[in-house]
Amino acid sequence: MPERLLVFLPGALVPTEHYRPTMHAVQKATTGVRLTVVIPAMTDKLCTHQCLSKSRCGQLRRTVDKVIKQSGFRGVNPKDDTFIAGHSLGSVCANYMVSGHGYEFAGLMAYGGYVDETGESSVANYSIPVLTMGGELDGGAARPGRLSLYYSQFKSYGAAHGDATALVRKPVHVLPGLDHSDFCPGFFVTAIKDLKSEQSQEEALEAIARGSSAFLQLNSPTAAETKERALSTMYEMQTLTAELLEPYLAAFALEQHGAAGPWCETAQQVVAGLRPEDAGKLVVRSELLAMSSFWHGHTEYAKLADGRLEATVISAVEPFTESHKRHGAAKSIDCKMLAADRIAEQLSLNTQAVQCREVNKLAVDVARKLMPRHALERFDTKGRGFCHEHDIGVLGDIGPLFVAGSLKAKETSECLEVASLGLTTSLKSWIYPGNHYCKLLSPAMALEWMMTDGLKPFPYDLQGDDAVDTMAV
Ligand SMILES: *[C@@H]1O[C@H](CO)[C@@H](O)[C@H](O)[C@H]1NC(C)=O
Repeated sequence: MPERLLVFLPGALVPTEHYRPTMHAVQKATTGVRLTVVIPAMTDKLCTHQCLSKSRCGQLRRTVDKVIKQSGFRGVNPKDDTFIAGHSLGSVCANYMVSGHGYEFAGLMAYGGYVDETGESSVANYSIPVLTMGGELDGGAARPGRLSLYYSQFKSYGAAHGDATALVRKPVHVLPGLDHSDFCPGFFVTAIKDLKSEQSQEEALEAIARGSSAFLQLNSPTAAETKERALSTMYEMQTLTAELLEPYLAAFALEQHGAAGPWCETAQQVVAGLRPEDAGKLVVRSELLAMSSFWHGHTEYAKLADGRLEATVISAVEPFTESHKRHGAAKSIDCKMLAADRIAEQLSLNTQAVQCREVNKLAVDVARKLMPRHALERFDTKGRGFCHEHDIGVLGDIGPLFVAGSLKAKETSECLEVASLGLTTSLKSWIYPGNHYCKLLSPAMALEWMMTDGLKPFPYDLQGDDAVDTMAV
């Protein structure tokens, strides 16, 4: 049997022994490979003490070399026979160490964690095989709403190189019902904000071991039939992951240009306030601008030869700041649309003023339809819903203040209080008359809430060490 070594880096503050059952399960499942596992203890149980960044990770590298020596494993070339894995913060260090030292390992496994989102060390561009694995009920940084970004890279790679190759080199798995702490049984990592696992320890370890062993077998010189079995395991797990993550990709698409988006076109139809029988009289097209040039875009309208009115609306996806970004959803979708009055004037019919709020309700409906059924049931049973409040006006109806303002999304013990920033200019306004601006809840953000944060008990139990939240997990 081929001999392989797996070096496993623990998460922040987790004593190494909590990874023993996990690693035993992986060893047992990895048939056809003689797998040695070492779990080095970290100074102060924080790998980042020895590995601050890609360029300052030499100390961890030396520690790892030392434990490899002590393990008695006699490898030939780490590029072929040594895998690195890590959980949570440990996966951050694993990525730093691997990418900071020329990728000279056989592969990387990130549990409840991930490699870089972009660039050379992204899933798309990682030069060695990389497995990304997280729990459906991870409430921290490795939540499904974030892993969906990596899943999207996996899919693109599969489209270019074939699904099987993608499943060997860049699998991204979300394990149904697992939380962040299922990777280190007995230690609750994120006392702060994690969700609760819905799997027994045995089931959780089996799921983790299945994916890990398939990855190790596919990237080691195992027998053809072993690889075949491992690949079908990968396909099976991928089906489960797709069920959980495809909704996010569909929701992200609503924010962007494409067949489904952008959302501002849908929003214009809502705030037009047309009677149902008149709905066909308004045609909407949109321009998607970067947030930085959103202010300079302006709506247009034109009567078509057939009597319909064509509205051109301006759309921008407002991102979370980097430090607040925990998932792929936008902070808000910002739209410049025609006011209902303008549409009434142009079409010579009656319209009704409609608040941006109605579009937010629609965003929730759309997200609910995208959600996997079990997740929707879970949310409806124990989640905190949405409280749609009246639109918030902009002081003096001043446009730049609209651009600078934000959608209100405030967590309470009851719900997520959502209020759009809304601005309507009358047909007689001096500047940009007859417009309706909204900062809207993104359907992706609604989905994110229902899949993750809305399931957490609130207020949060903010006991525990901040360091635990560093990953930030
Ligand atoms: C991968 O690398 C290419 C070439 O440098 C780059 O254009 C692309 O954006 C990278 N992919 C990601 C996901 O960052």
